[in-house]
Amino acid sequence: MALVADRITQLGTENAFKIGPHIVAVEKTGKNVVRLNLGEPDFNLPEYVKEEIKRQLDLNNTHYCDPKGLLSLRQAIARQMKEMRGLDVSPERVVVFPGGKPSIGFCQEVYCNTGDEVIYPSPGFPIYESFTRYLGAKPVPMHLKEEEDFTLTADHLSRLITARTKLIILNFPSNPTGGVATKEQLESIAEVIKAKCSPDVRVYSDEIYEYITFDGQKPFSIASVPGMEARTVISSGFSKTFAWTGGRIGYAVFPTEEEANIFKNLNINYFSCIPPFNQEGARLALEHPDSPKVIASMVRTFCERRDVIVKQLNAIDGITCRTPGGAFYLFPNIARVCKKLGIIDAFESMSADMKQRTSPSAMFQMFALYQHQVAVMDRNSFGKIGAEGQHYLRLSIASELPVLEEGVRRLEAASKDREGFGRFMKERAAELL
Ligand SMILES: Cc1ncc(COP(=O)(O)O)c(C=O)c1O
Repeated sequence: MALVADRITQLGTENAFKIGPHIVAVEKTGKNVVRLNLGEPDFNLPEYVKEEIKRQLDLNNTHYCDPKGLLSLRQAIARQMKEMRGLDVSPERVVVFPGGKPSIGFCQEVYCNTGDEVIYPSPGFPIYESFTRYLGAKPVPMHLKEEEDFTLTADHLSRLITARTKLIILNFPSNPTGGVATKEQLESIAEVIKAKCSPDVRVYSDEIYEYITFDGQKPFSIASVPGMEARTVISSGFSKTFAWTGGRIGYAVFPTEEEANIFKNLNINYFSCIPPFNQEGARLALEHPDSPKVIASMVRTFCERRDVIVKQLNAIDGITCRTPGGAFYLFPNIARVCKKLGIIDAFESMSADMKQRTSPSAMFQMFALYQHQVAVMDRNSFGKIGAEGQHYLRLSIASELPVLEEGVRRLEAASKDREGFGRFMKERAAELL
């Protein structure tokens, strides 16, 4: 008899949380690491939100509360849905979760039977792929292409839809690519979904980066296309917009109140409710007149950094990087660096078992961290299935510009260090890859 159930062996993970001990290991040797791996804005929660949370604590708002989320917050979210997406949403269709993440797995749990297919973006947020096999559903990666700015064509999606498709996950602006689909793209994708899918197929639209778009591009939700509100779960939260990853407040808007109530019951079964003092802080964050200004200033800063760092990356021999339309990530192509350093050859000569465990971009990631003290994320941290032969990194621009520039300098040094890579493979590969 095995200790753990088979299904748990199918659960993936988010490597952004796994690279931490490697960074600590390098820093223990006395070297400082430039962290370009971070998935959270390097800003602080606005003071007025902090004050509200403190006030709520003083009011002893520290008890169990509505498992669906406080009505005051759900009403504020419903108003935001009207303002941002033109949708009339009853607060009864809104459910609050501990972050944007839980509704990903919950939706797969609620909507998918064994063998049902989940279409999701790859590269994409790793939790989309992680949950499908765990729940006995079938992962169907939608490989987004660099030459299409990591967006999606209706034709591409159409080819992936089958009679078993049950859930279609979209994420714009995207983690990890920063890709943003246009209104026209989403309208044509919606037409395909309406034409090919039964009304019971759900779209999970992960809009957690909704406020972080550049170059005047307005975020657009597929739920705003006529006929799509009834098929779409809109997910968002406070982690990115308000730089509040530790607050653990996210939410989803469901097509019907009945569906929302199923998720409320999952909340009851898993964690009862979300801290009410934080929920009141989140409500104020949405309602406060200073919030648009605060968000705009953060977005402006990300945009300035993006412009500088994309240019610097493209100046490195062997790296090409597109200019993302949103979020705070860059997704450079390092295929030529992998070739130049001998990473591809080293990978090809590995045993099948080793090849399963690593990839050329993961090898570069470890080399860059241990030999050049710069932490980045590798391609396969954002969906592994069918990603062979894709050599990318994700760099976060959630650090001050001088830090980012130092990170680029270290990446450039790593990208030229063929000898160092050879040494790394001899001395550290067995232990680290
Ligand atoms: C696309 C995407 N969805 C969801 C989440 C989860 O956000 P939260 O920290 O609020 O759970 C993240 C966080 O990185 C993300 O990038």
